This record gives sequence, C-alpha cells and structure tokens, in this order.
Amino acid sequence: MGPQEQSNWWRDATVYQIYPRSFADTNGDGIGDLRGVADRAAYLAALGVDAVWLSPFYPSKLADGGYDVDDYRNVDPRIGTLVDFDAMVAAIHEVGLRVVVDVVPNHTGSSHPWFQEALAAGPGSKARARYHFRTGRGPGGAEPPSDWDSIFGGSAWEPVGAGQFYLHFYAKEQPDLNWDNPEVRQDFLQTLRFWADRGVDGFRIDVAHGLAKDLSADPLPSQAEIDEIGPGPTHPLWDRDEVHSIYAEWREVFDSYDPPRAAVGEVWVDDPARRARYATPAGLGQAFNFDLLRAPFEAADYRAIVARNLAQAALTGSTSTWVLSNHDVIRHRTRFGLPQLRDPSAAQELGQAWLRSNGIEPPEDRRTGLARARAATLFVLALPGSAYLYQGEELGLPEVADLPDSARQDPAFFRSGGREVGRDGARVPLPWKRTGTSFGFGDDGAHLPQPPWYGQFSVEAEAGRPGSTLEIYRQALALRRRLRDTEELTWIDAPADVLHFRRSDAWRCVTNFAAGAKPRPAGRLMMASGPLGPKHEIPAHTTLWLSD
Ligand code: GLC
Ligand code: CA
Repeated sequence: MGPQEQSNWWRDATVYQIYPRSFADTNGDGIGDLRGVADRAAYLAALGVDAVWLSPFYPSKLADGGYDVDDYRNVDPRIGTLVDFDAMVAAIHEVGLRVVVDVVPNHTGSSHPWFQEALAAGPGSKARARYHFRTGRGPGGAEPPSDWDSIFGGSAWEPVGAGQFYLHFYAKEQPDLNWDNPEVRQDFLQTLRFWADRGVDGFRIDVAHGLAKDLSADPLPSQAEIDEIGPGPTHPLWDRDEVHSIYAEWREVFDSYDPPRAAVGEVWVDDPARRARYATPAGLGQAFNFDLLRAPFEAADYRAIVARNLAQAALTGSTSTWVLSNHDVIRHRTRFGLPQLRDPSAAQELGQAWLRSNGIEPPEDRRTGLARARAATLFVLALPGSAYLYQGEELGLPEVADLPDSARQDPAFFRSGGREVGRDGARVPLPWKRTGTSFGFGDDGAHLPQPPWYGQFSVEAEAGRPGSTLEIYRQALALRRRLRDTEELTWIDAPADVLHFRRSDAWRCVTNFAAGAKPRPAGRLMMASGPLGPKHEIPAHTTLWLSD
C-alpha cells in the first residue's frame, strides 16, 4: 500500500459494525468484550471486510446501550481495559484491517463527572454551562421550558428542582452538551487525539447533525413550530450551519496524523445537499446515507437513491456510504420479509406493530426476506463508495422479534410506555456455534436471550456450506476487493423491475427486484445471491455479478 492509498482507504472500504456487548464473550459474564473481538480477528479477515467499527465500549450506565458515555477516554470494566483495547487494535491491524471507534459528542451519560458536577453546582454555575439548563415555565417554573419531545418519547426536558430543567434529546440519562462552550470543544479534541494516538484509524460520529443548538429564543418555539421549519440553518436544534465549525477543528486533528484519520458522520438529514456538507474534505470527509434503510425493495427507489447519492458525493469529492442494517433498525433480512412500503414512517410503524405481536404471523415469509436481503447486499457491494455491514447480517440472521418485555433494555421501549418495542431484537448476542451454552457466544448466558432457533444461523452451521449466506458474503467480499478499481458506475438499459449497471469491463451487477424471473443479460456469471434457475433467467429477488 502506498501512502496515498493508505490515506484513502475509507473511500471504498467495507466496514463491519461490531456491537461489542453482543459480539463475543470471553469471560462468561454474558457480555461481549474487547478480547472477544481480538479473538475473532481471523474471522473478520476471512470474511473479507476492510475495517471494523466498534459501537461504544466506554464506561456507561447502559441507559442507551452504551451511547450514554460516562468517560470518553476509557473502557467499560465489563468490556475490558485499555490494555485489552491496545491488544485488540494490534490483533485487528495484524490481519490487515482498520479500526473505527464511535464518538458520542451530542450528549454525555448522566454519570459523567461533568453532569454530576453540574447537578451539585446549581443554577447559573460554570458547571451547568457545559449543558443546556433552563428555567421552567409557569408558576414556580414547574412546567418544562418548551413542549419538545425526546426522540425516545416523553419530554426532552428533565426537572432537577428549583424550577430548573436540562435538555436531553435522547434518554434522560443522556444530557445534551452545550457546544458553544469552549471547554466542551477542547475536551473532545483531546478525546480524538487520545484514540488516534492509540492507533485508531477512523471515527464514527454519533448524531453529527445535532451538536450546534440555538436556545436563545425566549420563549422557545414550540415542537409544532420547529417541525414546520425542518432541519437547517433556522432550526434551533438540527443541522445548523455552525456545526461545521466544530468539524473543521476536528479535521485539523485528523489531518495532523499520518495517515490522516478518517471520519464518517451519522447525519439524519434528508436533503442530500445539506447532508453533503458534512462530507467535505474540510469536514468529516464522509456522511452516512441511510436512504436504503428506509426504502422499499423496488428497482425505481434503488436507482433514484444511487443516482442522487453518487451525484452528491461527486460534488464534495467524497464517496457515498451504503447501509442496509445497523444496531438501530430491524435487521434487513426481516424488514424485507414485511410488506414493502414507500412511506418510511409507515414502514417503521408496520415493523414496530409486527414486533409488538411478538413476531407471530409475519405478513410475508422468511424466504422472501432472505432472498431480497442477499440480493440487496450484492447490489450494495457492487456500488462505488463504502459499504457498512452490521454484525450477524453475514449470517442472514433474522431480527429476534419475540424478546420478553422483561428482557428489554432499549430506552425507546421504556420511554414510549411499550408503544415502541425498540432495537433490542437486532442486538441479541451472535451465534457462533450450532448448539451449546449461548451458542458459542460465551461460556455462560447472553445479556439478551437468544431464541432456540439461533443455532441454525451460527457461523459453525454456515461456514463451508455452499450457498449459505456466510459463504455468499465471503465470496462477494473477496470479489469486491479484487474488482473495485474505479469509482465509476454506468447504468445499462434493463426491463422493468431490473437494475443493471457496469463497474468495469470485468464487472457488471444485475438485480431482479420482482417476484418472478426475468431475462438474464449476456455475460459470464461470477456469482449469484441465491440459487440459479434456467440459464437464460435471473430468478426472483436475485442479484448476479457478471463479466463480459
Ligand atoms: C445514534 C445511535 C443510537 C443512539 C443515539 C443516541 O442514533 O446510533 O443507537 O441511541 O444516537 O446516542
Ligand atoms: Ca465478557
């Protein structure tokens, strides 16, 4: 690898997301740990990914699966130590992969020393100025300062006595930081250096569009008013222009390393032009594009999303990111087994309703879901840009829909009074073995219960079995590594419900989104996402990779 290639590794990387608590447990406490990740470095290398991204492993009260960070520069003792972290980075680097860690700058955990200090210090103090504290409305300040909703349900304001409230857009254990405060800014620069100095290659930035806030209005606008405004420069909370001055500072830190550290922002901003601003070389460099997470499995939708995002990426000189699953959504294999709705909020409602019914009677079937999931994955892996895979999708793992309420951990479940079932069903510890205690996850239980059918989706059950989802991923990732050489994509005319594009002389991708077979274009078959039918056909819900 030349130095140039080294600094551009992220442009077309395949990044495997690890949710550390649910990956592999080496000490039998039911919680995945960093040693578990180090132990599986060979598995990750054989899978053929280029990098791993670890969701938070920092000390945390786990009010939001670790996204409530109480110490940004340490490892949760239940997950390991800094020594384990260094050993894990070494093990991953040793097999030629890179390491990306999660940065959670929008909010700290409520046990963070800053927040504890703020609670003790009282109104008007320097300690409170690191967060967003405000006086309540009404007699004695008993009412919250505004009617804003938390994303997890309930009010976004939590009372602390004496008519004071603090802002938390997520759980109440996640107080929002005040990014106008220079101390907050300095501290995060230190955090970035801390991990970069330990050899981390890149950062994933949580809620990157939320840091800059303008709470100067008095009274504050209502939820209805800000919904009307929508994210952007005049919205008090989301996607304000000032947020980019934060990332300009971060970029200086990233670029002070050789090779420069990479970053990708979690940016829930629909307007691709606004989203692109996070992806400039002077900013984070790359932004997540979640369009495929919310799209039905339909050719027209996929084509429009690809075209739009490639055009945007070209404008900033970045590359696009493609995501079908992560720790926040229903696993795509299951999502694709539900009726495909074009309205993302209706699709979300449907998914939640199905989860609430304990996954009984799925409206469509698991086979359709799996076929579509593999077809979509091969489609995505053929696109220019980087692809983010979520642990377990390489096994075709379904969502665990029937978790008992007593086992649930997600604040979205608790704060919505059970109306939202939440995200635990995508976070159940991985099955490594067909049978045995926690299916090889560890020597004892699993912190979220695994269902009896789990073993059939284990690494042991799928490794080496021709046509298994794991073998399809391995084959596709090996081919992708060999074939990706340009960032070009050229569409080729195709019948309705089929998308066909060329990456190079040696690589074309054709996907049949329909429930019936379609004619197969000429070319040598390199691989298929599922079983093949007659030679002149692309079976239903199937992607083929072809060469000339
Ligand atoms: C991001 C994370 C999600 C978390 C939220 C608050 O959206 O992906 O898991 O709950 O931020 O930190
Ligand atoms: Ca453990």
